[in-house]
Amino acid sequence: MYSFGYRFNTVFTAAAVLVALLCGLASFSDYFSTPSVHASAQVLKINRFRKQLNGNDEVALTLNISVDLQSTFTWNTKQVFLFIAAEYETAKNSLNQISLWDHIIPDKDKAKFQTQITNKYPLIDQGSNLRGKKIKLVLHWHVMPKVGRMIKDNMVMSEFHLPEMYT
Ligand SMILES: *[C@@H]1O[C@H](CO)[C@@H](O)[C@H](O)[C@H]1NC(C)=O
Repeated sequence: MYSFGYRFNTVFTAAAVLVALLCGLASFSDYFSTPSVHASAQVLKINRFRKQLNGNDEVALTLNISVDLQSTFTWNTKQVFLFIAAEYETAKNSLNQISLWDHIIPDKDKAKFQTQITNKYPLIDQGSNLRGKKIKLVLHWHVMPKVGRMIKDNMVMSEFHLPEMYT
């Protein structure tokens, strides 16, 4: 004889299996979406370029950025986190990566924009290596899903050289 408790448990288990299956599918379907992201950045102005009293180079700049991350949005996307990093090589480190600006895109309608920004976080080198340095501006994005794993990707937006002299 089946007790109510036993039947409830069966139904509950079946529902849990179904939910698990749907979550699996949702996250699996993300493997098949191949987003095509477009982004560019130009340096409009170097606002400050100096050596701090402690000897570290510091840069403040204004960028014109154009970003289209609309293709990263699927029905399973909660939000997209993005940051723009300055990346460069020094003798000590093959990759120095400094986040200049970040932003959270809550939905697809807001995933395409063009704007002028100044760096929210300072570009400070661990030393005085930045004069004449080639800097890559790299867009990094993290697609945060409703269910499943987070997808991280990046692309180079542009490259420029810092001036040979402090301002
Ligand atoms: C910023 O970039 C957009 C397109 O990417 C361009 O149309 C616009 O003229 C640029 N603005 C400046 C001030 O360079």
